[in-house]
Formats: sequence, structure tokens, C-alpha cells
Amino acid sequence: MCCLGTEFFPAADISPILLSWGTRHMRRLPWRVSRSLYGTIVSEFMLQQTQVQTVIPYFHRWIQRFPTVAHVANAEVNEILKYWEGLGYYSRARNLHRLCQILDQMAVPPRTPKEWQAMPGVGPYTSVAIGAIGQNFDAIALDGNIIRVLARLIGCREIFKNKIAAAAHLQNYADALIEPGRCALLNEALMDFGATICTPRGGSCEGCPLKGLCQTHLQKLPMDTVPAFARPLRKSEVIYRLLSVHDGKILLQTSRLKRLRAIYEFPQLLSKNILGAPSCFTGRRSIGNCCYEERFVIAGRAFCESIDLSRGSVKWVPIADLKDLVLSGPHRRWLPRLLDLTANAEIAPTNPIAAPFYCGRGSSAFF
Ligand code: ADE
Repeated sequence: MCCLGTEFFPAADISPILLSWGTRHMRRLPWRVSRSLYGTIVSEFMLQQTQVQTVIPYFHRWIQRFPTVAHVANAEVNEILKYWEGLGYYSRARNLHRLCQILDQMAVPPRTPKEWQAMPGVGPYTSVAIGAIGQNFDAIALDGNIIRVLARLIGCREIFKNKIAAAAHLQNYADALIEPGRCALLNEALMDFGATICTPRGGSCEGCPLKGLCQTHLQKLPMDTVPAFARPLRKSEVIYRLLSVHDGKILLQTSRLKRLRAIYEFPQLLSKNILGAPSCFTGRRSIGNCCYEERFVIAGRAFCESIDLSRGSVKWVPIADLKDLVLSGPHRRWLPRLLDLTANAEIAPTNPIAAPFYCGRGSSAFF
């Protein structure tokens, strides 16, 4: 039953219900309160790979500091990155900066998704989202929520490799829903319908205004497996990082990759220098499909300066300056705990490699 042709898809009944639901129940998100094309661009960049609830405070702070395209265009990239700190995927911030510099020089902004796609950081999804939500262009941007709503409406039994494959499969159904001139509302209504009613686990079907038109509901298919995605292969990796404080300064590292050069992290140990070092703190973070377990090893300055830290360029940064630089999101979150640990570090005399350099409780001799 996965491939009902769109001719059997009651789009003409579904769209008015969604538009009317959207008018009454759409979330009051900050980028919807006083609408502008600029606000839509900023929100769509932030919402790539990041949840709505996480984005909200960042959006507020951003608009306060950069109320217009020109404010972004004229800012230094380091300040842009600072306002992005914690959102991750920093290429989005750099692209948004470059995009605003281009827009600031244009007499009129791009008018269609195709024109938007020629801009930095604007891919197929974002081009349609900006065009449809910001300029009422007649198109639907198939994000995860909209994919789920459509897949359930048609009772889709396909197992998709990823969201791109699902979006390609569902595009015709999305297009059938388009009511000319109403796509800003239709996109946001669909997104919010997926986020609040047609949620990943289902459960709100009784009160759902589309239940009589929904094949997943009518055929009693299990909500939580429509749509179905092939399980991605999750990887995991353990890495070791140095935690070293000396003379009011902390050892940090920036990446050798140009795009990450302004982002600081605790230095990563090369595998040849790990050798069973005991860790004082373990943090976990995910980047894409990979879950990283980061183990922090306290060490004194002499040890840090005796080993090869060539994974990046290292720098002793005054602790008082930490607030001003861009620290990787998880490291910023863990920082208070890590600083506490350096203040209360235990001697670890048995460590074969780093023992002479491990610091003692309150012993400044090692720092
Ligand atoms: N996800 C992507 N764009 C969005 C928007 N404009 N509103 C809510 N969620 C979104």
C-alpha cells in the first residue's frame, strides 16, 4: 500500500484542514512574531541540524546584536562565531556571514529557490524553506516533520535509506498539497503539525483533524514505524584530552583545519601518548553518526610541553579570557567541572608515562 498514486491522495481535502489548523494552532516562535526575510534566513540556518528549542535563545541573542543583514555583513567573523558558540556546525555561521555580505550588496534578494541555491550554505532544503516561508514561494520544504506527516497520510511502508530518499519519494504528494499563494502558512502548519500532533511516536490520533484521511490510522498501521528508516551504522570512538592549568592559564588547541581555526578545544592526545593514562572526567558528545567518549587527563605543564600535540596548534590561554573566545559547545558546558577538577586534582604516581607530571592536591609545584 506504499505507493498510492497521488491521484488517490485527497490533497484537496487535506490542505484546507492543515491551513485552518495552522491559523489556530501554529507555535509562536520568535522568527514568526515579527516576520522578515532576514529573520527567516537566520532561523533556517540555525535550524539546520538543530532543534527548535535549542535555537530559540540563540535566535533572540542574534537578532538583538545583529538586527539586519548589514549588521552581520559588517561584523568580524570571530564575533559571528562567538554568537554561534554551542550551536555547532560552525560552517553554518561562516556561510551565513558570507551570505549576508552578498545580500548586503544586492539590489534585490534572490526570488526563487533556484536562485537561493546559488548562495553560500543554501542547499536544496534551505532554498525551498527560505523561498516558501520567507517569500511565500509555491513549494514545500520536506523536513523531518513534514516527511513523517506525509508518509503517514499515505500509509507508506517503504524503508528509506535516509531523509533525502524519503523526501524524493514524497515530493509529489507534497506538491499536490500546494495552494498557490499560501505556502508560507502551509509549510509552517505542516512542520508544527508534525512537531505537536503527528509526533514520532504518535499518540494524538484521537483528536487529529486528519485522522479520517490518514491511511496509517485507517489501516491501523503502527505509528512508530511509519515512516521507516534503515538503521544507520553508529560508530563510537574514545579520545583523550589534556587538562592542564599553569600559572592561571589553561592549555587549549585550535584545529589546523581552516574552517575550525577560530574554535578552541582541549588538546587531543595522540594515541602514542595515551598509554593507560587515568582520566578524571569523561564526557560524551555526538557528531553526525559518531558518538565520542572524551576522557580528560590532568597533566602538568612539563608533560604537556614534552609531547607531540601536533593535532592542532596549542596555546596557553588565561582563564580570565575564556569567556571571550569560542570554545567547542560540549567543552564550554564541561568547563566549570573541568576547572574544579584541576583545583582538586589527586596525585597519580603510578601512571607510567605521565606520573611525574600529574598534579597534586593544592600543589602548585606541578603547575
Ligand atoms: N524547522 C525548519 N524550519 C522551521 C521553521 N520555520 N519552524 C519550525 N521548525 C522548523
